[in-house]
Amino acid sequence: MAKLTVRDLNVRGKRVFLRVDYNVPMEEKDGQMVINDATRIEETLPTLELLLEKGARIILAAHLGRPKGKRDPSMSLRPVAAKLADLICRPVAFIDDCIGEKVEKTVELLQPGDILLLENVRYHSGEEANDRGFAERLAKLADLYVNDAFGAAHRAHASTEGVARVIAASGGLCAAGLLMERELKFLGEELQDPARPFVVILGGAKVSDKIKVIDRLLQKAEAILIGGAMAYTFRLAQGFKVGKSLVEADRIDVAIAALQKAKDRGVQFLLPSDDVIATPVDTGKVNKKGKPIIEMQNPRVNLTPDLPDDAGGVDIGPATIKAYSDVIKSAKTVLWNGPMGIFEDPRFAEGTFAIARAVVEATQRSNAKSIIGGGDSVKALNTAGLGDQVTFMSTGGGASLEFLEGSELPGVGTLTEK
Ligand code: 3PG
Repeated sequence: MAKLTVRDLNVRGKRVFLRVDYNVPMEEKDGQMVINDATRIEETLPTLELLLEKGARIILAAHLGRPKGKRDPSMSLRPVAAKLADLICRPVAFIDDCIGEKVEKTVELLQPGDILLLENVRYHSGEEANDRGFAERLAKLADLYVNDAFGAAHRAHASTEGVARVIAASGGLCAAGLLMERELKFLGEELQDPARPFVVILGGAKVSDKIKVIDRLLQKAEAILIGGAMAYTFRLAQGFKVGKSLVEADRIDVAIAALQKAKDRGVQFLLPSDDVIATPVDTGKVNKKGKPIIEMQNPRVNLTPDLPDDAGGVDIGPATIKAYSDVIKSAKTVLWNGPMGIFEDPRFAEGTFAIARAVVEATQRSNAKSIIGGGDSVKALNTAGLGDQVTFMSTGGGASLEFLEGSELPGVGTLTEK
């Protein structure tokens, strides 16, 4: 059912609690936390600008990382306030907590057009526990609730779900922000009745992460192309040797069921016919987390569906690239979620980048709608410099996957119906 959006609200002079997903990648440089990719901040600017234009008093709330209810300075949102001020070209106030008397007094001082960013809501354990008392203390700060945090909308936490309930219970309206609206449009409405052929590309490590999505998309797509380590669980299910590839041996039954369902429905379900493989070698060293560092040595192309015992698959091979690209180029709608190999290593990036180029070609030449389901596929497109050449890239990782599975996201469910 359609939800209210920020456009429907009369916000003049009102305190608007705006939940955003500012969980951005950061890195320590010379003792300071620096933002590596500000896309999630940039994507909230339309909502912020609309609220400013309408004279709202804006209280921004977000999480960063997983501090598990404790104050961890490396997960402070303070650098985000500075970045947002740069991007929006106006001051953004920051306060070092998200509840309490000091926060309430600061909020009272806000004038229409002012922006205040609260400190990481996950510094309080009540956030992830969706504690009613904590949600009430957040709700005390606002008259209206706007959720623009699509990336966190699959979490039933206090700032994404609980606070909306409290505000709604006292007669306040809860609406979707413009980014949330766009995400729901492209990942939802646009895929309800897609232009055909509808081609889905799924990659990543685990079949278990994607099985519900596969199941749902088997009812809609003309073709599903599989890459990444999850392809090897399918190959194992078909009786081939997978060498040292990452597989989920306990998921063979679901892989067999998916293959059968594709056959029954006449869906073209493609698995790689060749791969790039490499031999994992233990270096005897450990990483920061104490885990052994494994080096992938002797990369080579493997032309048969069976892998040698000493090697694992790390990318799709040239014949698979060609076959997948041909299918993608004939598509009118493309949905892509998950890389084809370990693209972070340039030796194993060609498959993922070639697929990115094919998706861009389908978008530019055949006017196909290309929708990228967030997470690593977005990272891959941006690394290849092609991020602005597709129709839509989601800001959600886990959220986009859960939404594509057909689940109602808690952060959306609580918003007011139109
Ligand atoms: C994300 O980065 O996917 C969202 O911000 C959610 O973060 P979480 O997985 O820590 O809940």
